[in-house]
Amino acid sequence: MQLKDLKIIVTGGAQGMGAHFAQRLQEAGAQVAVGDVNEERLAALPAGIHRRKLDVSSEADITAFVEWAHDAMGGLNGLINNAGILRDALLVKKDKATGQVKKLSTADWNAVIGVNLTGATLMVREVVAKMVEKEAKPGVIVNMSSIARHGNRGQSNYVSAKAALAANTVTWSREFAPFGIRVGSVAPGMIETPMTQGMNQKARDTLVASIPVGRIGVPEDIWVAVKFIIECDYFNGRTIDVDGGLNF
Ligand SMILES: NC(=O)c1ccc[n+]([C@@H]2O[C@H](COP(=O)([O-])OP(=O)(O)OC[C@H]3O[C@@H](n4cnc5c(N)ncnc54)[C@H](O)[C@@H]3O)[C@@H](O)[C@H]2O)c1
Repeated sequence: MQLKDLKIIVTGGAQGMGAHFAQRLQEAGAQVAVGDVNEERLAALPAGIHRRKLDVSSEADITAFVEWAHDAMGGLNGLINNAGILRDALLVKKDKATGQVKKLSTADWNAVIGVNLTGATLMVREVVAKMVEKEAKPGVIVNMSSIARHGNRGQSNYVSAKAALAANTVTWSREFAPFGIRVGSVAPGMIETPMTQGMNQKARDTLVASIPVGRIGVPEDIWVAVKFIIECDYFNGRTIDVDGGLNF
């Protein structure tokens, strides 16, 4: 597919990678509809990008957003399924000083699964249902997985969501092929965005030092992969790792 022919939704596009993708898509002539919980950051997006508040942990929000985006863009043939959050904690931890045993809270489990997995899945469901109803094809879905999909200490919730997204990229590519819709996914390593800027500085420095290419990634590194998935009509059902060669 050509970028200029896209009428595409970007979730979590008010900042970080999503905002970068939205800007690149608009520059290429695509119609873009960004949804995010952060209304202040949404307002700061470049003119011409359609935008509206969206909480992907709410099914009602998703349904209303997809309807609105379809009407605002005069059609719908793409989704960058990018909204995501972290609530990192070990599943079980023993405090060295006090001996107290701490557990990952069920609230933190549910929050990450609610946004990164249930929300992302419902986005795919609603976008694809709309495309099928309108016989809009070809179509393309890009899921944002993570290097954490292979497993990572302190991220049971996030790992579960990102591994499921990569696995269901295969599932959905097979289910949606008859509709002319391809599905791909990108699994970034460590990328400079507000998400990683919030990390503990020491943990961040150690991680960056272990990246073989010698630097943290930038949103443009991931955009190259997103663009490839959109443009290559023979790419389907796979996840591209873009992590500078980092091993967790
Ligand atoms: N930064 C990294 O190193 C990295 C690595 C691997 C994967 N990822 C994934 O890439 C995606 C983008 O990450 P980022 O680094 O740009 O993060 P970010 O925190 O900078 O941006 C995420 C955006 O999602 C929005 N969001 C959060 N909850 C939402 C909800 N319920 N509904 C709608 N929007 C919501 C936030 O407001 C924010 O604008 C995420 O899925 C993240 O898990 C990031």
